[in-house]
Amino acid sequence: MQIAFLLSLTALASMSTAQSAGCNKNIPSKFPTPGSSTSLKLPGSDRQYRLYIPANYDKSTPTALYFSFHGASRDMLEEEELSQFSNPEFNPNGVAIYPDSKNGYWLSNPSADISRPNDLDFTNELLTHMEDKLCIDKSRVFSAGKSNGGGFTGVIACNATVGSRFAAFAAVSGAWYDTDDIEGVGPCAPAERAEGYPFLEFHGTTDTTAPIDGNTKKSPKLPVIDILQGWADRNGCGEKAQWARNETVFENPLVKHASWDCGSKTGIVQHYREGQNGHCWPSTVGNDDYERLASQCPLGKYVFNATEYIFDFFSGYRLDAVETDADAIGTILRLLLEDEGKDVLLSMHSYAGMPRAAAATGFAKLRRTQEGKAGGVIGLLFLRAVVMAEGSSCTGLKGGNVPPLGFYRRLNIADDPTTHFAADVESALAQSTVTELESHATLLFTSPQPHPVRADATYLSEVAGLYRHD
Ligand SMILES: *[C@@H]1O[C@H](CO)[C@@H](O)[C@H](O)[C@H]1NC(C)=O
Ligand SMILES: *[C@@H]1O[C@H](CO)[C@@H](O)[C@H](O)[C@H]1NC(C)=O
Ligand SMILES: *[C@@H]1O[C@H](CO)[C@@H](O)[C@H](O)[C@H]1NC(C)=O
Repeated sequence: MQIAFLLSLTALASMSTAQSAGCNKNIPSKFPTPGSSTSLKLPGSDRQYRLYIPANYDKSTPTALYFSFHGASRDMLEEEELSQFSNPEFNPNGVAIYPDSKNGYWLSNPSADISRPNDLDFTNELLTHMEDKLCIDKSRVFSAGKSNGGGFTGVIACNATVGSRFAAFAAVSGAWYDTDDIEGVGPCAPAERAEGYPFLEFHGTTDTTAPIDGNTKKSPKLPVIDILQGWADRNGCGEKAQWARNETVFENPLVKHASWDCGSKTGIVQHYREGQNGHCWPSTVGNDDYERLASQCPLGKYVFNATEYIFDFFSGYRLDAVETDADAIGTILRLLLEDEGKDVLLSMHSYAGMPRAAAATGFAKLRRTQEGKAGGVIGLLFLRAVVMAEGSSCTGLKGGNVPPLGFYRRLNIADDPTTHFAADVESALAQSTVTELESHATLLFTSPQPHPVRADATYLSEVAGLYRHD
C-alpha cells in the first residue's frame, strides 16, 4: 500500500474562512482608503452609513466585519466616536460599519419609522453590499450598539433571516422594548443553530434613560435580566435560568460580571453590571456620553473599556467554526482521493483534531474499497490532539470557573507569532497570516465538535493516538 500523503499542517485547519464575493476585487473608488473612514449611501436607497477599512486590509484576506448602531437621536458619526470601532487599538484588523437610522430611531423604539424597506431590510442589504464589494469573512460578522442601537442588535439577533448572518451580539446600555406587536419585528424567533447565540450586555446601575430594572413610563422598557434570561433560554439553559457565575471584576466602583453556561456553551450569555454608571458607554478615557449625561455618570469616565471587552467576546465566536474548517480540509481530501486516487493518513495536532475528525467522514479506505473507489483515508493519527465528543466544546467540559474569553485569546496569541510560525516567508504574507490566525485563536475553546468520524465503524481499527508523558 502506498502512503502518499500525510496531511499534518496544524495551521491549515486554522486558515480556512468563509470568503465573500468581494474577495480579490479592488476596493470601490468611493470607499475609504485603508486606514480611514467615509460616509456613504447604500446604492438604490436613501440610507446612509459610515465605513471604516483597516490599514492592513488585503483584498485576498477575508476580514471580519463589525456593525455598530447608534443610540436614539444620535447618528453614525457620533457612534464611530463613541464605540471606537475604527480605533486600531481595539480593532486592528476588521472592517467597521456604522449604519444611520431613518429618523434618529431604530426599529423596536416606538418612534422608529417602520415603513418598508425597514431597518432590518436595510441591515440585510447593507451586509450583502459589503460582502459583494469587500473581502469579508462571512463567518465573522458581528453586531453591537448603544441604547436603542443595542436594542436593535437584539432585534437583528431575533430575526431568522438577518440574525443568522451574524456570529455574536453585544449591547451597551441596551434599551429593551417589548417588540411582540411592533410591525416588521414581532416576537423573538431566531433560526436554530448549533453554535448558539452569543450575547453580551453592559448596563449601569444608575441609568435613568434605560433603567436596568426596566421602567413603566410612556415607552416601557423591559428589565435587562429578562433579556439575558431570554437568550440563556434560547441557548438551551431553560426558562429563567440562573447565571453560572457572577464575579466581582472591580471593587470600586463595583462591577459584577455574570455569565450563563448552557450545555457545552460556556459563557454564551454574559453581562457587566456597572456600579455608579448611568447611560454611558464605559471608557477609561471618557467620551461624549460622559459629557452629555454627566448627572447619570458622575465619574466622568469608567474603570474599563467596554469596547475592549466586546472585541474579546467576539473573538471567541464564528459561525459554523469547526464545520468551516472541516469543509476546507474536506476539499483538499476530495482532491487527493477522488482526483488523484491517493491513500491519505490524517494526522492531527491540537485543535486540528476537531475539524479533521469531522472532515474525514465518508472517506474511509475500507468504505471506498467496498464501493470500488480508488484512494481513501487509511488512518487517523491524533498527536496530542483535541478529542471531543460530538456537540462538546473545551470550555463546556471544564465547567466551574472558566476564565473570560479574553484570557484564552491572550493565552493563544504569541506576542510576535511570526517568529513561531512564519519566519521563512515574505513579511506581507506572514502579516496577513497572523491577522487570520489571531481571530481564530479562541475558537478551539468555544466551538462545538461536529460529528467525529473516529466513532464510525469504518475507522475502528485505524485510529491511533500519541500522547507524551511529562
Ligand atoms: C426578518 O427580516 C427580513 C429582512 O428584513 C424580513 O423580510 C422578515 O420579514 C423579517 N422577519 C420577521 C419575522 O419579521
Ligand atoms: C450579580 O450580583 C449583583 C450583586 O452582587 C446583583 O445585583 C445582580 O443582580 C447579580 N446578577 C446579575 C445578572 O447582574
Ligand atoms: C481604554 O481605551 C483608551 C483608548 O480609547 C486607551 O487609551 C486606554 O488605555 C484604554 N484603557 C485600558 C484600561 O485599556
